[in-house]
Amino acid sequence: MRTKVVIIGAGPAGLLLGHLLENQGIETVILERRSRDYVLGRIRAGVLEQGTVELLEQAGVSGRMQAEGLIRDGVELSFDGDAHRFDFRELVGRTVMVYGQTEVTRDLMQARDAAGATTIYEAENVALHDFDGDKPRVSYLKDGTEHEISCDFIAGCDGYHGVSRASVPETALRTFERVYPFGWLGILVDRPPVADELIYAHHSRGFALCSMRSPTRSRYYVQVSTDEKVEDWSDDRFWDELRRRLNDETAGRLLTGPSIEKSIAPLRSFVAEPLRFGHLFLAGDAAHIVPPTGAKGLNLAASDVRYLAEALIEYYEERSSAGIDAYSARALARVWKAERFSWWMTSILHTFPDTDAFGRRMQRTEFDYLVSSEAASRSLAENYTGLPF
Ligand code: FAD
Ligand code: DHB
Repeated sequence: MRTKVVIIGAGPAGLLLGHLLENQGIETVILERRSRDYVLGRIRAGVLEQGTVELLEQAGVSGRMQAEGLIRDGVELSFDGDAHRFDFRELVGRTVMVYGQTEVTRDLMQARDAAGATTIYEAENVALHDFDGDKPRVSYLKDGTEHEISCDFIAGCDGYHGVSRASVPETALRTFERVYPFGWLGILVDRPPVADELIYAHHSRGFALCSMRSPTRSRYYVQVSTDEKVEDWSDDRFWDELRRRLNDETAGRLLTGPSIEKSIAPLRSFVAEPLRFGHLFLAGDAAHIVPPTGAKGLNLAASDVRYLAEALIEYYEERSSAGIDAYSARALARVWKAERFSWWMTSILHTFPDTDAFGRRMQRTEFDYLVSSEAASRSLAENYTGLPF
């Protein structure tokens, strides 16, 4: 088999890249290790930056998002029960959209089916070959048979644990990492959200987040230590812990019910540089991870992919390598700013086992400053709604 671009991974990065390229008549094949249902069953991100929304609109995959997504003008941050609302529309004239990653993925899969583009699910042993030259190949096993695809470029969109970054010689990569001593225990429940807008809460027992997927479906998270096991968290234990971390007024309004999903996600900051090795590009979680506190992961995948799609389209339409040469630096400039924001939100809102009294006062003072300073509030709003891309 031969194609122009082999995309590894059918997460949001791979599917969106495939869509942007196919829209310009650039043929792609997506290889995905899991089944389609498995990919659609993963509960992950919920908040889209305005730039991500605009990209999905330009790409022609925004019909359902516009009908079902919830535009939100602000968020609430609370610190030991003291709550403050940040009005993004007023501060920076921008908003965010609540629309689950699962739904973005479903819309992109449907668009890909409609375009007749090839996605191979349950592709095992995906391996990358000769990407340092101009005749790269990708091999895989499907239903016990070996296959090989030759291509012009490979896009590694296969997430943090994928094969793409792992195929790059260690000496060609520089990595930066911080692992946090806690994770997020998340629950999905068919009950209306406790508030119209998201609530991010710092509490001495740990961080809590109230989010949503729709007017009738809520998503809640609590910070837990890394050695916690999801089996040890009954729904009742979760709800009790969440209530303790919210202020009395919010806790009193919380509508609980049986969880329809419950999982623990570890928190990590990670960047690999560069994002290009000959004819292989990395994009999304394959190249970088942010702790979820700033709601940036999916949005960074979208901005990477937009830059990469522009670069590849320029290559095919104008036979110019300028875009692909600039891709890594262009994407990383935005990645690092989102890393900074996510690290900063994480460091204010969580409790750290080794923080002393001074550190705790610094967290509180960060919150007080944010609340009292319009400049600081605007900075939060500018970053949360998304830096331009
Ligand atoms: P992935 O979604 O990880 O997709 C990679 C794909 O590659 C997967 O389908 C995988 O099966 C496949 N793959 C892996 N290895 C191979 C292989 N060897 N061969 C073939 N295929 C392979 N982000 C936000 O922007 N906003 C949020 O609100 C937010 N909340 C989050 C909450 C949680 C609990 C978590 C865990 C994450 C959250 N994120 C959020 C982050 C966001 O989900 C990720 O950044 C996003 O999924 C990245 O997309 P991706 O396509 O790069 O990677
Ligand atoms: C959600 C996840 C996040 O990481 C975040 O910052 C906001 C919302 C969510 O899953 O809804």
